[in-house]
Amino acid sequence: MTEKKRVAVLISGRGSNMQALVEAARAPDYPAEIALVISNRPEAPGLAWAKDQGLHTLALDHNLYESREHFEGQLQSVLGLAKIDLIALAGFMRLMTADFVNRWQGRMINIHPSLLPAFKGLDTHEQALAAGVRISGCTVHFVVPEMDAGPIIGQAAVPVLPADTPETLAGRVLAAEHRLYPAMMAVVARGQAHMAETGLVWQRTDFSNINQAEAVFSPPL
Ligand code: GRF
Repeated sequence: MTEKKRVAVLISGRGSNMQALVEAARAPDYPAEIALVISNRPEAPGLAWAKDQGLHTLALDHNLYESREHFEGQLQSVLGLAKIDLIALAGFMRLMTADFVNRWQGRMINIHPSLLPAFKGLDTHEQALAAGVRISGCTVHFVVPEMDAGPIIGQAAVPVLPADTPETLAGRVLAAEHRLYPAMMAVVARGQAHMAETGLVWQRTDFSNINQAEAVFSPPL
């Protein structure tokens, strides 16, 4: 197999998606390794978990930097020293400057808990319930300077139930996130999908096998 891509996962909190990525990357044939876990919040539970697993971790407290640029300068040098190929944002709650994002164009991915382009920003499940959609889900996309807007790599859909609260919907979507993110990171690490000027470009990916009957119906038929 060609060399594994070195991934830095950036978190701010719980880190359950980071955990899913770490667990997937333990498979010998997975095309990426989690070389570094960085949190901008030193007290993030996900950081403690990663440390416990013996992973390389780093707390980069944004409060200690006088500006976004200084914080990102430090981040950039850490990523360089660790020879990082790919950044995976996983519940990372800091907006990044266009400079930083452009430097990592095509090499930084994010997971968002809605079917983009619907419900960008925060409180996506509240937004979905308020809009009354019967299907929601999650999206893995390349990061561009505009928030929650880059080329979409993959999505997973789940039903919205009449009794749902933001919490119950979040739980259902999160279970899908934990399957989608490792799979899409592998797609990017293998070079099966990359970001071009025109959007997403697929290579060596056979969609003919996709189960076209596997629609999510909500309410059930
Ligand atoms: C996830 O829902 C993710 O989609 C969003 O923030 C949440 C992070 O959860 N960007 P976790 O820290 O991965 O558990």
